[in-house]
Amino acid sequence: MSSSPRARIESLTARAHAEAWSPRTDLDWWGGGPVVPAGVSAAAYVDSVSQLFHAEQASLRIAAALVGRLGDPAAEAFLATQVADEERHAQALRGYLERLGDVAPIDRHLAAVVAHARRADGPPWVQIAALDVMLAHEVMPLQQRRLAHGRCPLLRQIGARLAADDVRHAAFGVAYLELTLPTVAAAERAAGQAWLAELWQLWTVAVLARARPAGRPLHPDRGALAALATHAAALLRQLGLVGELSAPALAGA
Ligand SMILES: [Fe+2]
Repeated sequence: MSSSPRARIESLTARAHAEAWSPRTDLDWWGGGPVVPAGVSAAAYVDSVSQLFHAEQASLRIAAALVGRLGDPAAEAFLATQVADEERHAQALRGYLERLGDVAPIDRHLAAVVAHARRADGPPWVQIAALDVMLAHEVMPLQQRRLAHGRCPLLRQIGARLAADDVRHAAFGVAYLELTLPTVAAAERAAGQAWLAELWQLWTVAVLARARPAGRPLHPDRGALAALATHAAALLRQLGLVGELSAPALAGA
């Protein structure tokens, strides 16, 4: 991309304002759905969608806690739009779960990922890398593709809105790291990379825990997870973060 990271962030902020939507009025709540996918129990479906809801709520808390810490007015302006987006995402999924009639508690492995993500007391670029590079680039698209298989028209609508917002968050993550990393000392980079690798490891454990028993339509695919780790690591390397996102739990899985 030819324009500077800051110019890209500014145009992403303008796009976010132009594309802002309302979970109440921009989703067709009465057009059909929720539809529980064939071969899946209502409880398993509620559980899967609930995890997505908990992930959005965690994203909202993490993004909100970053407000005022990014050290750049353009980045702060974008972050304000992301906080609003995450609120919409959680609200839309909450509405969907209300129509399903239940919300499942957060999976304990996912809770460990969230706890690690929120415990970060380091520089904000590390959490932006987690939220807007690893999560928005890699993890959420996989989750959303998985849920779209269920063919629920309402969830597909919600998924399309979330995915469009995540594209902006992902572009911001790359631009913010390009803006910030050149000024970061080697030791801080190494510490940040280690924290991200640990987060990825916890995430892998969470996904694999849900991958059992295999063959259930809502459960994640191990091959896709391995490809994800490779792709996310390549992306972080491209941004100047060395190291691997190894996933030892995948071995023998
Ligand atoms: Fe989100």
